[in-house]
Parts: sequence; structure tokens; C-alpha cells
Amino acid sequence: MAKGFFVPKTLGILGIVLCVAAVCTIIALSVVYTQEKNKNAASSTAASTSPPTSPSTTAATTLDQSQPWNRYRLPQTLAPESYNVTLRPYLTPNEQGLYIFTGSSTVRFTCNEPTDVIIIHSKQLSYTTTEEHRVVLRGVGGAQPPDIDRTELVELTQYLVVHLKGPLEAGSLYEMDTKFQGELADDLAGFYRSEYMDGDVRKVLATTQMAPSDARKSFPCFDEPSMKASFNITLIHPRDLTALSNMQPRGPSVPLPEDANWSITEFESTPVMSTYLLVFIVSEFTYVESKVIRIWARPSATAEGHGSYALNVTGPILSFFAGHYDTPYPLDKSGELLLPDFNAGAMENWGLVTYRENSLLFDPLSSSSSNKERVVTVIAHELAHQWFGNLVTVAWWNDLWLNEGFASYVEYLGADYAEPTWNLKDLIVVNDVYPVMAVDALASSHPLTTPADEVNTPAQISEMFDSIAYNKGASVLRMLSDFLTEELFKKGLASYLHAFSYQSTTYLDLWEHLQKASGPSISSLLTFCSALGGAPSAQLATPPDRPFALLGSSFQIQVLAPAPASSATSLKSRGVYLVFLFSCVFGLLSSGRLSCPLGCERVAGKRNWKPRGEGSFSMGVLLWGDGVAKSLLMRTLKISVCESQPHGLAPWLHGPDHVRGCVGSRQVRPHLKLFMFSFPQKYLQKQVKPLFEYFQATTSNWTQRPETLMDQYNEINAINTACSNGLSACEDLVSNLFAQWMGDPDNNPIHPNLRSTVYCKAIAQGGEREWGFAWEQFRNATLVNEADKLRTGLACSTQVWILNRYLSYTLNPDLIRKQDATSTIISIANNVVGQTLAWDFIQSNWRKLFLDYGGGSFSFSNLIRGVTRRFSTEYELKQLEKFQADNSDIGFGSGTRALEQALEKTQSNIKWVNENKDEVLRWFTEHTD
Ligand SMILES: *[C@@H]1O[C@H](CO)[C@@H](O)[C@H](O)[C@H]1NC(C)=O
Ligand SMILES: *[C@@H]1O[C@H](CO)[C@@H](O)[C@H](O)[C@H]1NC(C)=O
Ligand SMILES: *[C@@H]1O[C@H](CO)[C@@H](O)[C@H](O)[C@H]1NC(C)=O
Ligand SMILES: *[C@@H]1O[C@H](CO)[C@@H](O)[C@H](O)[C@H]1NC(C)=O
Ligand SMILES: *[C@@H]1O[C@H](CO)[C@@H](O)[C@H](O)[C@H]1NC(C)=O
Ligand SMILES: *[C@@H]1O[C@H](CO)[C@@H](O)[C@H](O)[C@H]1NC(C)=O
Ligand SMILES: [Zn+2]
Repeated sequence: MAKGFFVPKTLGILGIVLCVAAVCTIIALSVVYTQEKNKNAASSTAASTSPPTSPSTTAATTLDQSQPWNRYRLPQTLAPESYNVTLRPYLTPNEQGLYIFTGSSTVRFTCNEPTDVIIIHSKQLSYTTTEEHRVVLRGVGGAQPPDIDRTELVELTQYLVVHLKGPLEAGSLYEMDTKFQGELADDLAGFYRSEYMDGDVRKVLATTQMAPSDARKSFPCFDEPSMKASFNITLIHPRDLTALSNMQPRGPSVPLPEDANWSITEFESTPVMSTYLLVFIVSEFTYVESKVIRIWARPSATAEGHGSYALNVTGPILSFFAGHYDTPYPLDKSGELLLPDFNAGAMENWGLVTYRENSLLFDPLSSSSSNKERVVTVIAHELAHQWFGNLVTVAWWNDLWLNEGFASYVEYLGADYAEPTWNLKDLIVVNDVYPVMAVDALASSHPLTTPADEVNTPAQISEMFDSIAYNKGASVLRMLSDFLTEELFKKGLASYLHAFSYQSTTYLDLWEHLQKASGPSISSLLTFCSALGGAPSAQLATPPDRPFALLGSSFQIQVLAPAPASSATSLKSRGVYLVFLFSCVFGLLSSGRLSCPLGCERVAGKRNWKPRGEGSFSMGVLLWGDGVAKSLLMRTLKISVCESQPHGLAPWLHGPDHVRGCVGSRQVRPHLKLFMFSFPQKYLQKQVKPLFEYFQATTSNWTQRPETLMDQYNEINAINTACSNGLSACEDLVSNLFAQWMGDPDNNPIHPNLRSTVYCKAIAQGGEREWGFAWEQFRNATLVNEADKLRTGLACSTQVWILNRYLSYTLNPDLIRKQDATSTIISIANNVVGQTLAWDFIQSNWRKLFLDYGGGSFSFSNLIRGVTRRFSTEYELKQLEKFQADNSDIGFGSGTRALEQALEKTQSNIKWVNENKDEVLRWFTEHTD
């Protein structure tokens, strides 16, 4: 799935509070965070795709675990080979007012070990019985099926269980038929219904989101990624609509014999694949195409050419990956479809990727540069999965990080190929590497790898989709690729894909192939395994009270193996990577545990490595050393000041080495936000003024856009920072632009790049009138891009009653779409006026949010993270603890870990503020005239 939800990236969103980006390095660094990324604005998360419908995940332990149907993992006794699945979604409600679908399926499976029970996943399906049983069982090729004793549905573990009177025989093939019915709910999970407005007409479509564990909600199946099989899909649908699935139709649709208003569309058999990659869609969508590629969207969106950019970049990206993997594209078509109502950013269904409309849609009139960047990177991400993930699949969700981390890394390579002038590869450092360090630094962080037996329930699976999997996964794989060299990495990768096509693997299989490809000279892959946080294997004897002795000149880090002779990477740039290796050390040190999970002593050919230069390590210290950050903070700020040349900004973003110096600031900024609500505006104004004026002059008073993408981001950032700090020229600029628009609503004079910022600032400066205007525009907006910018901007109001009313809107799906509720609440929490309001709102509505409003659309982890981000007082800590205690009966589902992280983060924030506040304030006072 696409990320699109990393909360760390939203830190800078619109910099509502006060943009601390005073000093130029800070500005440069924050650029990428404030680039009005829809990535953030649309911060719904993959993690939310399977909300815990049964919040209590512990109940299973009270069941009799010796019974296989009480365990969450399937037994290995049976293996599916092929399914026939026919589904018929009804897009109008039945007499009871319910939307439903009906279906029938046949699964053919091999028996590996004799067993007298068939256990298959099934969730919220009701079955038609034949002779009182929910299934019909047949032997294939002469096998004699035992009689059925009884069938039962086990709700907790989501199984249909068939108890047999005798055993199935090892080596025999069987077929099992079922007929069933399910609700076509608007819950964004499994086979679900999505609605959208076409002018005044409400349209309904049926679509799917199977990952990670909801295929079982559309038909009974062995719903684990390694239980691969081939699928013959048939859809029965209203004849004026189009049915789509992973494969091409076998032929033209034919009328349903008993009712000619319906058509039957049969699809080609799929290759052997995992259930979570299936997709079924019935809609009136139309497409644009080029060769084997089709981009599907609402007819009006297609007609307006919104799929054109996606179509332009898909071809090049597919051919890039075919080359990169040295493996042809595995299917004969590639479809991409834009969904108005979709939970994840995108889903890599094999052969038919689904996207949130705002992830893919590109409209030259309303889309900003960052919208465009988002389109090309998300396409590259999903297409990367078509091989890595879909062709070769990780066997279980504990290795999700490999799948997502990999796609999150190579998305930059694919996107860079499609848009070679944008320098997209540089963004990985700012988008993935740095943000995740902050998360990884917490003791409540976790290694990339998780033992398979610790991931069982759907809520535990959902929890895997976090920024550690995506961002740290991407960072570590990038590091590994850089370490081995891209050539050797590609070689190992291709050999891995060739060896395991249509099968499933663990991360160690990739390691093995990389190791083979790289030859005996690289004996240190273990080093990298260790960065994943493997089993403890070494002790670092460092005084607990002086953890940063580690960084002193006397300390030498014995982790890095000799660089391959061919590697062009200098040791200096490895500084960035090494910090990753340290993360576990510091994480453990700060939690008082000293054992180091680095495989330090296992590395052959040890070599001492000494950090060079100050810059390269300040980030490590700031990140992992809350208490010691003080002096480094000061140092960083001084460095920053002396380098505050506005014109020199862009280069900061052009490579890891350049960015390095910024990192400290990047990490300082959120800390400063903790207590600097009364930040010396004067100081900031002084810092940002030259930047603002620089862009004003070079863009002819904001009428043209800078040429390069990075400069465009910087321009936005300049306005953001200047307005946040009360630079009157900026305030005039945004309020004039907004007033012009209010005077002539049909002609928005604000350039799409600047809209997020201008909306936000104008609404913050304005009152009810501005808010009301923007709200009306939001309600009327036909383009998601535009709607998202407005929705986020509306959260910038500085009036308590407006924000409270807006919060209440998030629980009304007629006003704020369910998929947007979380990110709207987070936007409000990012506003300094809104922070406590949002927190109060969540506390008092948790029960409702969690129980009634769950249904696939809420990202609890993002919500908790987003709202508690700036907590830094004892009072807030107490509230958080109380919140945890008060709601322990309901639970926190996929937000459990986020809550632990929030508690820890708050404690460390309190400590940081206590230790640094006075000195930082003094520094700013001294530096403000
Ligand atoms: C699915 O279709 C293929 C090709 O027609 C066939 O070989 C396979 O047996 C079918 N699967 C089932 C479960 O009938
Ligand atoms: C599955 O579907 C295929 C093609 O539609 C058909 O040939 C086959 O007989 C079906 N298999 C079963 C077991 O119904
Ligand atoms: C097909 O649709 C038409 C027009 O909506 C309706 O009059 C007719 O009864 C439908 N046919 C069946 C068999 O339901
Ligand atoms: C897509 O490519 C065509 C042909 O090169 C070009 O005319 C069009 O402007 C491109 N569309 C977008 C949105 O870039
Ligand atoms: C920009 O506006 C200022 C004042 O409104 C004016 O003095 C200046 O000439 C303008 N510059 C350009 C390049 O239009
Ligand atoms: C919103 O749309 C309605 C109906 O199309 C129209 O009457 C109204 O004027 C629009 N409002 C704005 C602010 O454009
Ligand atoms: Zn993904």
C-alpha cells in the first residue's frame, strides 16, 4: 500500500502555530515538510484499513488454544490451488434498506496432512445451507470426501469451520462449494460500496480493499499471503456498468439469463497469487488508455483529462522497473483506478491498482507541484509492488517492512526516471530517513523485524503498517543498496525475484540473494541485519550516565565493514547511515538498557570508524539524546545563522551531504514548538524577511513560479514562515489574494502551488466571513485536490468556537467524508488554538470514534500521534495516562503502540523542555535586537 500517512511529515503542515523556521537552514529543511503535501493532508493511513471491529484482541487467549479454530493462524494441513468466485453486488438497497452482495465460490485444495476439520477464513458472511451444512464437499480425481458432521462460524478468529466425520487424506484434492451473502457496506473494507456525487446525482459503485485481511469479507478463502492460488473471477453486474478485476475479461459480457438487466463478466484466470491482492470493481467509470495501460476514473474526471498525467508516467515507470528487476511485467495489462472514497493512499492490487482520487488525479488548473510529485511517486510505489510484493510475496505480515520499505525506496528511483529533472531522489532523505529517526529514537519503537508468532490478530497486522515499516524500511534498504552498490543490489534483487516468482519468502531470502550477488568480499550483510534490530548479540560498555561518550573522539564505532573498493560513497556520507546503526544503541541507552542489538562483534573484518566533523553527528545526538541536546542545539543554531543566505537555500536540498547540516535544525524545530508559543517573532521575521523578499523579487511580485521544484517548495515555505511570524507584507499578500477571490468566487486568482498556504493564513487572519466562504467553496469543490486544500485550511482558524464546530463536523459523514475525518482532526490539533480542543474532543468521543465510527475509516494511530505530538507538560502527561486508563475497557486497537509512544514522547518532551527552555529563550533574546 502507499504510505501517505506518515505523521512525522505532517509536522510542518502549514506551520500554523508559528514557524520556527527562522534560520535559513531551518527554513531549507522544513521546506519539504510544508510543501502542502497531500501526502500529509490526506493522511489517512494504511494502518486503518482493518480497524479492530472486535476491540478486544486478548479474548482469544481465554479460549481453548488446543483447538485450531481458536488460533488466528491457519493450520498448514490444507493448501488452496484454485478458486472460482462469482459475486453480484446490488447497487440499490433491498427492502430492508441494506446494500448487499451475493456470491458463490468453489475452492479446490490439496490436503497436506490428514485432518478432520476444514478451517477457512470468513468474515461477516452468511451462508445458504445445503442439507443443513454451509458447504458442499467433493473429492477430485477419485478422492472420497468424508461426510460433514457440522459447520460453524467462529466470529473471533473469523473462520468458517467444517467438522468432518472422517479425515481428509494427505495428497488428495477436494473441492468445496459455498453460497453466501454479505453486506456491501460503506466501510472501506473487503467488498464495499463507495458513493460520490455527479452533479446532483448520487452514484454508487462497488469496489474492494482486501489488504491486509479482508478478502475473507467478500468470499470464504484461505486469507493468508502465503496461501497463494489461482482465481477465476466472475462478476454479475447491472448491464450499463463496467466490471473490472485483476485480469482481462475472457470475452464480452453476456446477459444474465434470468434478468437481462444484468450482465455477466468472466475474467481470465489469475496467476498464482495472494488473496490480499484481489480486486473487484463495478462502476460507470471510463478510461484513457495507451497500449496495455488504462487509467479509470469518474466519467467527468476522465473527460476533463485528469488521468492524462498518470497515463504519461505509468508507461515509463513500468519499463523502468522491468529493467531494474530484470524481469518483464508479469501481467498483460496494467490498470489504475481512482476511487473517490478510499482509505489507504493507494493499493497495489495486481493488475489493477486503486488510488485515492487525490493521489492520482492531476489537473493543471488546481494541482500544485507537490500534487504532481505525489502522483508520480505513488504510481512508482504501487508499480514497484507489481513485482516486489505481488510476484514474490512475503510469507507473513511480520515481514511487511520488507515489502513496504522496498517499495518506499524504489518509488524514488522509478519516479526519478519518469521526471528526471526534479531531483526526486534527494527527497528520500528528507521524507523518509530523517522523519523516522525521531520515531525510531523512542524506546517504544520497534525493530523492523518482528517474530512471526507475535503478529496474529487483524489489529496486530494493522499495526505493522507504520512509519518504521515504510520509512525505516526504505532507509535501511537504501543504505544497503548504497553499501553494496546499486549494481550488485540489482543483481541480487533480480536473482531473488527469479528464484521466488509466484512464491513467498522471508527477508532472509532476499539477504541470501544479495549476499550471493555481492560475492565473498562482502561479509558484512549481518551488519545490516543488525540495523533491523535483530536478537541482542553484543554488549556496549558505556557508562549509562554518559551515553554520549559514544560520540566523543575516544570512542570508535566498530560496526562498519570495509567499504567495497568500487563504492564511491565517502565515509562522510555514511555518517547518515551510521546513525541508523546507532539508533538501537541510543534507544536502549535512554531506556536504561545497555545491551546492543547490533551484531557488532559478528562483523568480520572489523574496522574502526570515527565520526568526522561536527555536523554529521549533531543529528544523532539531538535525536537520541534529549538531555544532551542543549549545547548542540546552540551549535546548530549558530551554524545556521552563519549560513543564512537565502539564495543558497536550494542546494541544501540537493543531496544528503548538503542536507546533513540541516538535520539538527529539523530535529530542533519540533522541540522548540513545545514551549515557544511566544517565540520571539521579531527574530524570526528578521530571518525570513530576506527570503520572502528574494522570492517576491524573483517571481515578479508572486505572479510567476520559480523554475525548479525545490525552489517552488522554498517559495511556499517563505510565505508560510513570513505570515506565521507576522511579516506584514506577507499578511497583506495573502489577505489581498483571498479577498480578490471572495469578490469573484468563479475566478480563483491564487496559484495552485500557493493555495494551501494562502487559504490557511487568510483563514487564520480572518473571521467567520472568511471561514464561511472557504467552507462553501469546500462544499462546492468538485476536485479533491482543491477540497483537500480547503479542508486543511479551514483548520487554521484562530477562533475557538469555529474550531469546535469544525471538530463536530468530523463525526458527520455528510459534512466530512469518513476517510478525511482523522486528518481533519489532526489538522485542527496542529493549530495551536486547536490543540487542546482536538484533544478534548478525542477524549470525550473516544468510545464513539472507536466503536461506532471505526468501520475501516479511522486511523487510530495517526490520530493519537497527531494530537499528542506537542504534549510537553506534566498536566498533559496525566491526562494521557488517565485517557489510557479510562478507555482500557474499549481498547485502542491499531492505536495501542501509538499511545505508548505518545506517553514516552511526552515524558521526554517534558524533560527536554525543563533542561533547555531557559537557555534557548535566552539565546533568542540575545539574538533579537
Ligand atoms: C479456473 O480456470 C482454470 C482455467 O480454465 C481451470 O484450469 C481451473 O480448474 C479453474 N478453477 C476451478 C476451481 O475450477
Ligand atoms: C470454474 O469456472 C470455470 C470457468 O468458468 C469452469 O470451466 C469450471 O468448471 C468451474 N469449476 C468448478 C469446480 O465449478
Ligand atoms: C429491467 O429494467 C426495466 C427498466 O428499469 C424494468 O422495467 C424491468 O422490469 C427490469 N427487468 C427485470 C427482469 O427486472
Ligand atoms: C501528457 O503527454 C502529452 C504528450 O506528450 C502532453 O501533451 C500532455 O501535456 C501530458 N500531460 C500532462 C498532464 O503532463
Ligand atoms: C511589486 O510591487 C511593488 C509594490 O506594490 C512595486 O513597487 C514593484 O515595482 C513591483 N515589482 C514588480 C516586479 O512588479
Ligand atoms: C455552490 O453551488 C451552488 C449550486 O451549484 C450554487 O448555487 C452556489 O452559488 C455555489 N456557491 C459558491 C460559493 O460558489
Ligand atoms: Zn506499498
